[in-house]
Amino acid sequence: MKKTILAANWKMYLNENESIDFINRINQEESSFSNANVILFPSHTCINQVQKNLKSNNIKIGMQDCDIHTSGAYTGSVSINSITTVDYCIVGHSERRLIYNDTNSIIQNKLQTVFNHDVNAILCIGETNEEKDNNQTHSVIDKQLNILPKDLKNNLTIAYEPVWSIGSGNLPSNEYIEEVLSYIKNKLKSLYSDEIAEKVILLYGGSVDENSVNRLLEVKLINGFLIGSASANFEAFKAIAEKIKL
Ligand code: 13P
Repeated sequence: MKKTILAANWKMYLNENESIDFINRINQEESSFSNANVILFPSHTCINQVQKNLKSNNIKIGMQDCDIHTSGAYTGSVSINSITTVDYCIVGHSERRLIYNDTNSIIQNKLQTVFNHDVNAILCIGETNEEKDNNQTHSVIDKQLNILPKDLKNNLTIAYEPVWSIGSGNLPSNEYIEEVLSYIKNKLKSLYSDEIAEKVILLYGGSVDENSVNRLLEVKLINGFLIGSASANFEAFKAIAEKIKL
């Protein structure tokens, strides 16, 4: 059985010194994380230092986002080429969609860029509160998944993050998550095949912490978690990792 994935989306919470401090603590207490597959997503500017300081080869590093383009006159943007050794890249996080106006079409291009560079993609999808209340969850997810390529040849992870749960402490019930994840799996089966759909990894994200992780793990389709604020605090992240049983 595969280990539970703990993907730590540090957003813009940690500066360079804080990121290095976090890594030093991981180096000292690595055994606390041994039951999980950990992927860290520092700020772009901190990735290099995180990689330099991290001792474990088991912990992977990713970018939180990337530009569609790989080089050129794009002031302030970050190319997936500029950080050559990342294992993962997140695309379509709701904060990129809602604050920075990343449309499904932009996200489609970003996903293709990530695939073109043989980096593992984590595509974030999920409905807003308003969409949930208007019973649009399935149609929103359809649109967000319709950007996937016709042939899926690369590794894909899908993070289901209901926007209304991110940073709010409002957790969906396990039944709610199970229903949406089943919908996602079935959609993948209809887009590709049962075999390919089985290979796509599913994460849940939104207000995951040490108190919720055990009950969320009861959702059979969950392969791991994409964690925001609790992942940027070493003790809180360690507490989550220690709840994971093999
Ligand atoms: P929180 O864990 O802070 O709710 O954030 C979730 C998230 O957005 C992870 O990408």
